Parts: sequence; structure tokens; C-alpha cells
Amino acid sequence: MTARTSDIDKAAGVLRSGGLVALPTETVYGLGANAEDPAAVARIFQVKGRPPSHPLIVHIGGAESLEDWVEDVPATARLLAEHFWPGPLTLVLRRGRRVPLEATGGLETVAVRVPDHPVALALLSAFGGGVTAPSANRFGSVSPTTADHVRAELGDAVDFVLDGGACKVGVESTIVDATDEIPSILRPGGVTREDLEAVLGRPIAVPLTSRVRVPGQHPSHYAPRARVVLVEPEKVVIEAERAQELGHRVGVFLPPSFADASVKTHAVVTVPGSMPAYARGLYGFLRELDQRGCDLIVASLPVEEGLGLAIANRLRRAAGPRATA
Ligand code: TXA
Ligand code: MG
Repeated sequence: MTARTSDIDKAAGVLRSGGLVALPTETVYGLGANAEDPAAVARIFQVKGRPPSHPLIVHIGGAESLEDWVEDVPATARLLAEHFWPGPLTLVLRRGRRVPLEATGGLETVAVRVPDHPVALALLSAFGGGVTAPSANRFGSVSPTTADHVRAELGDAVDFVLDGGACKVGVESTIVDATDEIPSILRPGGVTREDLEAVLGRPIAVPLTSRVRVPGQHPSHYAPRARVVLVEPEKVVIEAERAQELGHRVGVFLPPSFADASVKTHAVVTVPGSMPAYARGLYGFLRELDQRGCDLIVASLPVEEGLGLAIANRLRRAAGPRATA
């Protein structure tokens, strides 16, 4: 949690000279570049192995500079920005001219957010511009929630890693399409649907694809090396032990109500009962079971309320069909 002023200045210098900086945010670590430097933005895609058509999020230092980056701010977007920024909410709006098409995957809209992390905010202030950053992991794999995760996964491919401690939210931001007055959720995340609805004073739509897995349609994202299988909470122990007997090295996400069970599998993580704690730990648990050599992870979905909606979304995607390319 203790990036020094000299580290912040160094990171700002790296951004100015077209380099890549891994930066902490409250959600996950980002792989940042100067949003206005197309060559630097192109390097992000190279390092991540991400298709250039996948748009990035532009991180800015405060809601007051939103107009510098977008063409039009509908009243609803303004309301959400004032309420939730800095925080784990990303607003998709019409692209301002300052944002190169490289950062938006060719789209005429742009995703923008103000991260709620003192180190990220200090960097944005020292740098003075926008920082475009996806999660600092290779395409399709688990997002990093500590600086060590970033170093382990990206190593020398990043010019500088700013260490801001463990991320306090642990899952990515909620993405809201705010291009018109009826916003919708594109990706559930750190700001809950319930909190958005309380501020909007009306229901907000969550697309079906983020809640229901359509087989064959979603190459897996947020995925560990081990295959992830989802079962009902009551079946987790029995299915896990059966797979272990069949010769798998099984890791279990043990539901909190089974915390006292003795489970005969290779590795066990007892999932926290509180959703904020579960979200904070989720990616670390997946990484830990990978590191312990599991080839199969058996888990169940939490109730899809509050942060449970984002956790369930990430688990479904981790369990989804793997991209082969
Ligand atoms: O919490 C977060 O959002 C983290 C931290 C680093 O800020 N970032 C993050 O970035 O999760 P990334 O690149 O892993 O995910 C960005 C998501 C992608 O799913 C992308 O499709 C969506 O944002 N996105 C970006 N621009 C968009 C746009 N113009 N329209 C629709 N979706 C967009
Ligand atoms: Mg990502």
C-alpha cells in the first residue's frame, strides 16, 4: 500500500515516454498506457495477447474531467458518475476526439472510470492525462489482485509495476452503458445492481449473457489453468471426491455451510460467507488452486444478489468453454 512519491513520478515518466505501467486499482491491477498514445496502446494488446478489437477502459483522475474524454454526458451518466466515482463503476459513453480508435477497438463509444485507489489517483494526477488499462493478465486468464500476481504473469513485459497492496474489491468494475437515458449493465462488478437501482430510482437491465451461460458462445474468461466445474452447493463435496477417485487432482471451493466437512481431495479452499470477502479472495483462490497443481476445480454459485452477481458471472465464465486459439 506504500508506493512512494518517487515511484509515482517514475511511473508517470514511463507513461509519458510511451511505456507500460502496471497500476493498482480497488478492483484488480491494470496494465496502463497513455490513452492518447496509439503506439503505447498497441503495446498493451501485444503484451496481453488480446485481440485489438477488444476495447479498453480509460482511467481518469476525476469526474470533473469526464467531458475531456467523451462527446456527450447524459444526465443519468452524470448522476452515476457523481454518485459512484471514484469507485468500481465504468461508464460507456460516446467517444471524445481525444481517445484514439486503438483504445476503443474501433468503436465510437469509450469506457471511462475513476478508480478508487490512492496510488492510482496519485499516478493519474502526476501524469495529468488518461490511462487506458485492461486487467494486467494475459488474455483469458485470471485477473491479478496483487503486484506479485502481475510480476508472476507479465514479468519483464511491463516497464514498471506500481505496488499498491492487495485490491480491496477483488472483481472488476461494473460496466454500464450510459450512452442514453436508460442505462443497462454490460458486465456485473464491484458496484452492485441494487446500489445502481437505488440511485437511479428504477430497475436496471442485466443482459442475459452475463447471467446464463449459453454453451459454445463464450470462450472462457477469468479462467485458471485447471478446468472449473459448477455444481449445486450440496453436491460440491460428493462430486469433488468422486472426481478425485477417478484420478483428478481436485481443488474444492467449499461452500461456507460445509466448512466443517472433511474433504478427501487434493486441495480445499473454504469460501467466505460474506460476499465482499469472497469477491476480494476469488481470483487469489483460483490462482492458489492452480499453484497447488489442481487440474479440476469443483465450485458452486453464490446467490446472485449484491456482489454475488459478479462472483457468479466470473465463475460461469471460468467454467465456460476454453478458447482454442
Ligand atoms: O475494474 C476494471 O474494470 C479493471 C481495472 C483495471 O480498471 N479493468 C478491466 O479491464 O477489467 P478489461 O479490459 O479487462 O475489461 C474491460 C471491459 C471489456 O470487457 C470490454 O469489452 C469493455 O470493458 N468495454 C470497453 N470499452 C467498451 C465499449 N466502448 N463498449 C462496450 N464495452 C466496452
Ligand atoms: Mg480483463
